[in-house]
Amino acid sequence: MSSDAPPPFGEWFLNLLEPAQLMAMAMSYYFQVCTEAVKSGQVLAPITQTSRLRDEAFGRFWIAFSTNREEENSTATSASNEPEEAELTGSSALIPPLLKTASGIVLDIGPGTGTQMPLLRSPAITAIYGAEPCIGLHKELRAKALAEGLGSKYHVLHCGAASSELIPALEATGTGVADAHNANGGGVFDTILCVRVLCSVPEMERTTRELYSLLKPGGRLLVTEHVVNPWRTAKGSFGARVAQAIYQLLGWSFFIGDCCMDRDTEGALRRAADGDGGWESVQLERAFGWSPLPYISGVLVKRGG
Ligand SMILES: C[S@@+](CC[C@H](N)C(=O)[O-])C[C@H]1O[C@@H](n2cnc3c(N)ncnc32)[C@H](O)[C@@H]1O
Repeated sequence: MSSDAPPPFGEWFLNLLEPAQLMAMAMSYYFQVCTEAVKSGQVLAPITQTSRLRDEAFGRFWIAFSTNREEENSTATSASNEPEEAELTGSSALIPPLLKTASGIVLDIGPGTGTQMPLLRSPAITAIYGAEPCIGLHKELRAKALAEGLGSKYHVLHCGAASSELIPALEATGTGVADAHNANGGGVFDTILCVRVLCSVPEMERTTRELYSLLKPGGRLLVTEHVVNPWRTAKGSFGARVAQAIYQLLGWSFFIGDCCMDRDTEGALRRAADGDGGWESVQLERAFGWSPLPYISGVLVKRGG
């Protein structure tokens, strides 16, 4: 299916319901975690420890979801013996061509269980720092790094994307990677990866500015993100935009780890470099404008390389 052309009506309508399946799965993990807490005697935990329970539920949900997806992809691959990316469908197909260009010192924001790690085996990559705030995903992430032969290159950081969390976590690795930033506010990463994560960071405008400042001159921000439906443009869909609003009202963000369906991520990314006179180049493509999960994907390059 083309990423631009809307599918036939029936298929389009079923696609509108896909996020409902995801949300139902995430809700079931949340209720499971709450039930366990109550049964273990923490009767008030769903009210007094909502944040902890949500975090744990999201961790379990994401492990189950990403494991299913990886199994589906590997089945398709082994059945045909074609290269992996040729078999990927939907938004997943946007990721490999982009991530395979990563090089130097890499920061992966919100790596989850490390689904994208097989795309980061290039010898041009010298080190990878994965900033993952959900501690329930760290075991999977470490195991994936070992399985992909990246054990010595990959550093799991327990933090979010905000500099106030990220810089101390980088310092704690003892690799000296944050030294340039601490000395003169300079950039430290050659590549920063944002794959389906800017939808979840608490303050997107601020976070994108901070990520920009962490890039070295000439550094590249590689992005694949779902965004607000561009319904006012020819590529967008009013029906899909309404579906986004309904999902938000039904608690999408609550159950899916603070994910927001309605962010203007492209705008925030473009503005992130305003204080420096703009990016050297921005190449962002839009895809799936007919869907409740439309994407932007591409590369933003910092000036001065
Ligand atoms: C939808 S998952 C995507 C995971 C991975 N990038 C992938 O493509 O499979 C979003 C990830 O972002 C993480 N996340 C949520 N808030 C974050 C934040 N403020 N900073 C960094 N990561 C965050 C979540 O824990 C989760 O692992």
